[in-house]
Amino acid sequence: MSAPVLPPSDAAIARAADTLRAGGLVAMPTETVYGLAANAADGDAVARLYAAKERPSFNPLIAHVASVDMAQAQGVFSDRALALVEAFWPGPLTLVVDAAPDCAVSDLARAGLPSVALRLPNHPVAQRLLAAFDGPLVAPSANPSGQISPTRAEHVAADMGDRVDLILDGGACTAGLESTIIDARSERPALLRPGSLDPAEIERVWPGLVRPELDPDAPQSPGQLLRHYAPNARLRLNVTAPEPGEALLGFGLGDATLNLSQTGDLAEAAANLFGMLRQLDQAHDRIAIAPIPAHGLGEAINDRITRAAKTA
Ligand code: TXA
Ligand code: MG
Repeated sequence: MSAPVLPPSDAAIARAADTLRAGGLVAMPTETVYGLAANAADGDAVARLYAAKERPSFNPLIAHVASVDMAQAQGVFSDRALALVEAFWPGPLTLVVDAAPDCAVSDLARAGLPSVALRLPNHPVAQRLLAAFDGPLVAPSANPSGQISPTRAEHVAADMGDRVDLILDGGACTAGLESTIIDARSERPALLRPGSLDPAEIERVWPGLVRPELDPDAPQSPGQLLRHYAPNARLRLNVTAPEPGEALLGFGLGDATLNLSQTGDLAEAAANLFGMLRQLDQAHDRIAIAPIPAHGLGEAINDRITRAAKTA
């Protein structure tokens, strides 16, 4: 049976909060991608969430909060971490901090780590649900592990409709790529996953951003697992001239099957990426992607398409 897809009326939000209190799974829109929410404090609900996604349980989850106060009850923020909160919350920034002594986020959701990842999303439906639930909600992207993240309620219904209890429909996600994850526990901020917040913005508030050498055998973030965000079709990157039989996902001027951004706008390309990959994947076996500049949001876009292109 497929989960109901509900417009975010007050009644639907109340029903979703009740579902979460009962240990259920609710798909909710955020500004980045749709998340699959569960009560962060309920180990059984979190176990159900890992099972629904078929996600390896050594990959910890992000706990979403309704307020900065709720975040500070879960984690210990340095002054610099608080400066990032001040500058970018609500928004597509996840901060990894030391867990507070009374952190409610279950061990399973934290994969047994002494740290916790926290984010206050900038989406009215996510915020209303968090306020109604009145506690932290873990929410990985609402797709089977390794596949393309959903940016519309229809994507969630198609991929996960029979594995979740309820889907809140908040329309298309505006940012389209997952949050930027910063480890805020040290003297310098560390970029664990490039995402919808341009790293240059972080630098403005807390200079000295480090990009830890990624160790594929010891992922600090599942976004760092090599194959991820993957369509069924074979992908070829940095393509200027597609081969016969290839669909072209373009960027900037020129002919293409679909174009991430005619004007070469990286934010528009980020918002379009996952939806267009899905669309091409439905009709083509081979997808070529035009070169995407590496600066700004291009770092996150290139990260996602590089992982999507891995074949094993
Ligand atoms: O935009 C987003 O962040 C979306 C929306 C739904 O909010 N959520 C999302 O969650 O992408 P998820 O669970 O797919 O990504 C969690 C990321 C993983 O890369 C995980 O390794 C990292 O957060 N993470 C969680 N806890 C961590 C911790 N204590 N230390 C380091 N990384 C952590
Ligand atoms: Mg994901």
